[in-house]
Amino acid sequence: MRPIVVLKKTLLCVTLCCAAYFSFEFKGDTFRQRSLANIEIHDSELKPTSGFVVLGMHRSGTSMISGLLVEGFGYKTGGPLLEPASDNEKGFFELSPAVNQNQVFLYDQLQLRDAWNHPNIDSFNHEIAIRSALNGEIDIKNLRNVTEQLNDAKSSPWLLKDPRLCITFQSWLPFLNSKPAVVFTYRNPLSVAKSLNIRDRLPLIHGLRLWIVYNKAAIQNSAHMCRVTTSNNAILQDPFNEVLRISNELTSKCNVPPPPGQLSVETVDSFIDPTLQHNQAVRKLQEESLPQKQVIEVYNDCDIYEYPSWQTDAYWKQLEMDMYLKAMRIHCDLESGVAYNADYVWPNLQEKVKTNIAVE
Ligand SMILES: *[C@@H]1O[C@H](CO)[C@@H](O)[C@H](O)[C@H]1NC(C)=O
Repeated sequence: MRPIVVLKKTLLCVTLCCAAYFSFEFKGDTFRQRSLANIEIHDSELKPTSGFVVLGMHRSGTSMISGLLVEGFGYKTGGPLLEPASDNEKGFFELSPAVNQNQVFLYDQLQLRDAWNHPNIDSFNHEIAIRSALNGEIDIKNLRNVTEQLNDAKSSPWLLKDPRLCITFQSWLPFLNSKPAVVFTYRNPLSVAKSLNIRDRLPLIHGLRLWIVYNKAAIQNSAHMCRVTTSNNAILQDPFNEVLRISNELTSKCNVPPPPGQLSVETVDSFIDPTLQHNQAVRKLQEESLPQKQVIEVYNDCDIYEYPSWQTDAYWKQLEMDMYLKAMRIHCDLESGVAYNADYVWPNLQEKVKTNIAVE
């Protein structure tokens, strides 16, 4: 039997026919290792929804949304959270053990210490991750820590956020006793790629490629979940009403228990500093949506503008432009909503770019 089939049967059978199945499928070492993993599986389609996951590419405003939801409504994050840093002074709202576990999941398959920007991160396979966790092949102390927190009724309604979840989201599902809802957000790919260059010195083409990979993974991995979608622009334009809409839809559409608090203008203003942040927000909006440049392509009524290339070599300039256009077309499709369709065709990403982009 193929490993994936075995895994699916395993998950199904844990709830249906444990004893018989174990003695049949798991023999000797495999069974012992499995017992060693010592983590509960909750694999039922009928799980209630006691919280939600925020999915979005790095530098896409997921911290701002999460901060507004946590501080504005009282959704619970568990602890400890990552410390605020210069690239997110208001905090990340990321549960440290969840980030650690995501790093373990990714490291196991990509062999890079913090693999969030690995060019081949799209090769991550959640079924392998689940199997590695069950077989005791990877360290799951963080997984146990997070699930103990989130599976506790006192933690509801919870919010779990880490951009790595775009990639690893499905690896968590069997270990949660609830079926989480999803808040998905995105930001203009060029803004994200520029931000990644400033923070991490990633070449523009690498940032654009990661933008495609993360957004595709987030949408595909959450296709079967109850999902509320938004965007960085929608939040910046009207933080109060957009965050209120998100919370209302989480409750009314996705059955997330109502949060304990009520969003107040004061919370939004204290979180998004009314003068400084507003100006920044307006500037960001202008950067992202106002046409200052030539239109280089009209894609389904959506204008795509020229951008200053970072490459001097004609060959690399062309590869970068191809990547930029692929990302911007997806951005157009997110704005119109068609990128959420089940039959949406995601572009191929060239192998060549994949292997060469790490070289600046
Ligand atoms: C999770 O880990 C944190 C920090 O190491 C610790 O404070 C907390 O008690 C742990 N929680 C559980 C449920 O194990």
